[in-house]
Amino acid sequence: MSNKVALVTGCSTGVGLHAAIRLGQSGYTVIATMRDPGKQQALRDEAVNAGVSLEVTPLDVCSQASIDAAVAGVMARHGRIDLLVNNAGAGFLGSVEQTSDDDLRRTMETNFFGVWNLTKAVLPHMRAAGSGRIISVTSVGGLLGQPFNEAYCAAKFAVEGMMEGLAPLTRQFGVDICLVEPGPINTEFVASVRATSQASLAAMSEPYGTLAQRYMGSTGDVFATYGQTGADIADIIAALAAADSPDFRTITSDFAKQMVASKVVDPTGNSVIKIFAERLKG
Ligand SMILES: NC(=O)c1ccc[n+]([C@@H]2O[C@H](COP(=O)([O-])OP(=O)(O)OC[C@H]3O[C@@H](n4cnc5c(N)ncnc54)[C@H](OP(=O)(O)O)[C@@H]3O)[C@@H](O)[C@H]2O)c1
Repeated sequence: MSNKVALVTGCSTGVGLHAAIRLGQSGYTVIATMRDPGKQQALRDEAVNAGVSLEVTPLDVCSQASIDAAVAGVMARHGRIDLLVNNAGAGFLGSVEQTSDDDLRRTMETNFFGVWNLTKAVLPHMRAAGSGRIISVTSVGGLLGQPFNEAYCAAKFAVEGMMEGLAPLTRQFGVDICLVEPGPINTEFVASVRATSQASLAAMSEPYGTLAQRYMGSTGDVFATYGQTGADIADIIAALAAADSPDFRTITSDFAKQMVASKVVDPTGNSVIKIFAERLKG
């Protein structure tokens, strides 16, 4: 493969950082984007270790001006975008009553509107080329609603609905759409969720405080036991990028598949509610 161009969001850490490296190793010209290019050193160090060169470009998915500038810059420099990886995302902990309007809007802006707006900016170029691939990292939380994650799950569900609606259309002009749905991944994610959720967690009065403690306690340390690495998910993204006919949906681990199975086999939806309600009983 020669000069195919990949644009990846959220490359300062975690999945995005590793996806940028893996796609570089696969031969892509990688535009590794991040909202704060001051954070690029870790990516640069990994790139040196891996022997790949990358272009680092600022892109805040919450800013239309930033999206437009990044896409226009890539088109001016390279004339094509063959692969878009919508990876940037951020969680939020708090149930509906503790989620401020700002928290909700920030969570939706980052995880959903960012994906919508960047996809909308890139799609005309792929359609004109008659080819392209868009891989979006959602979550098991895009398939299963989970207590204290209502805003995050709402945003990831929204991406799922958008992409499931769009995929049959873009197939008509040679653009494949894929969803990557991880369970727990050991990245910076949990630390940044805790940082942005401090106020909502501190303000959690009864009955939510006890319910939250029971819920967190009942899930055990799923990150230590079942967590994947950013590199694991990057390998899956690189495989989807290379596949002749990629699957629409990739649930990334057996643990995640097991979680989702309860939803798939019970069209009433009662099984999923029961599982999480049991966890809240402690
Ligand atoms: N970790 C998990 O357990 C888990 C599970 C399921 C799904 N996911 C999903 O996997 C994806 C990657 O997350 P990760 O695990 O690699 O977490 P991470 O290490 O926290 O990385 C998230 C990345 O998104 C970036 N980002 C946040 N807001 C942004 C914005 N407005 N514009 C551009 N970039 C922004 C962050 O940049 P900054 O460094 O500037 O904050 C960071 O580079 C996310 O979509 C996440 O929802 C994660």
